[in-house]
Amino acid sequence: MTAALQTIGLAKNFGALNVTRNVSLDFERGARTALIGPNGAGKTTLVNLITGALDASAGQVFLDGHEISGLSQAARARRGLVRTFQISRLFRPLTVEDNIRLACIQRLGLQSSIILSGSEKADLGDAVASVMDLTGLSDSARMTVSSLAYGEQRLVELALALALRPNVLLLDEPAAGVPQSESHIIMDAIASLPSELAVVFIEHDMDLVFRFAKKIVVLVDGAVLVEGTPDAIASHEEVKRIYFGEARP
Ligand SMILES: Nc1ncnc2c1ncn2[C@@H]1O[C@H](COP(=O)(O)OP(=O)(O)O)[C@@H](O)[C@H]1O
Ligand SMILES: [Mg+2]
Repeated sequence: MTAALQTIGLAKNFGALNVTRNVSLDFERGARTALIGPNGAGKTTLVNLITGALDASAGQVFLDGHEISGLSQAARARRGLVRTFQISRLFRPLTVEDNIRLACIQRLGLQSSIILSGSEKADLGDAVASVMDLTGLSDSARMTVSSLAYGEQRLVELALALALRPNVLLLDEPAAGVPQSESHIIMDAIASLPSELAVVFIEHDMDLVFRFAKKIVVLVDGAVLVEGTPDAIASHEEVKRIYFGEARP
């Protein structure tokens, strides 16, 4: 079966520094893959190369079998390759619902929400409701983003990404900065994403990684050290030594 997302020989150099080395990975439809590795291993850079935020020095990216290596970030997003928005992409004075509506308007290609035909209005309403449903944000719909707890603000970012109807969703530390007591809000939402959506996430919290991932890719010094099931990764000698330290069983 064609992979939802595939990289072949991706590489990135910053001058003499090889930050991404010959990374070839397949992500199947419905993947739940964690990308882990020490700080500076090149995880964020790899996401930037995949989404087109950075130009690769070498290699190719395929989405559903079609090469997208030359496309802009926006064009890749229109084809269904979406990453979470940074917190700064949120319109904090607006309500949760209005933020989501703006993202849906963009995806549906509507000019504005002021002059809409009856069917456009219905489509937009359905799209907004479905995203709020997916993320469990319906109860907070009328609250301004700035009044939400930080964990819920990260949830709104996830909602904006989902509003673009991705086939592949890349999450760079979705729970970063979220207090431990709120991290379940994010992980619950991620756990209930549509099963056919391929989800790739970078996460430092190993409990979250092992709870959520069906596959783990370990990146060290810009290269894939090993990939496999959580069980295989947990018992991999070099991973234990390099990544987990000696403490972890
Ligand atoms: N724009 C850049 N210019 C030079 N070096 C960079 C740049 N971006 C990242 N790096 C370097 O690339 C390496 C990988 O960084 P990064 O992808 O952010 O790692 P990770 O997300 O795994 O912590 C680091 O050594 C970092 O300093
Ligand atoms: Mg990073």
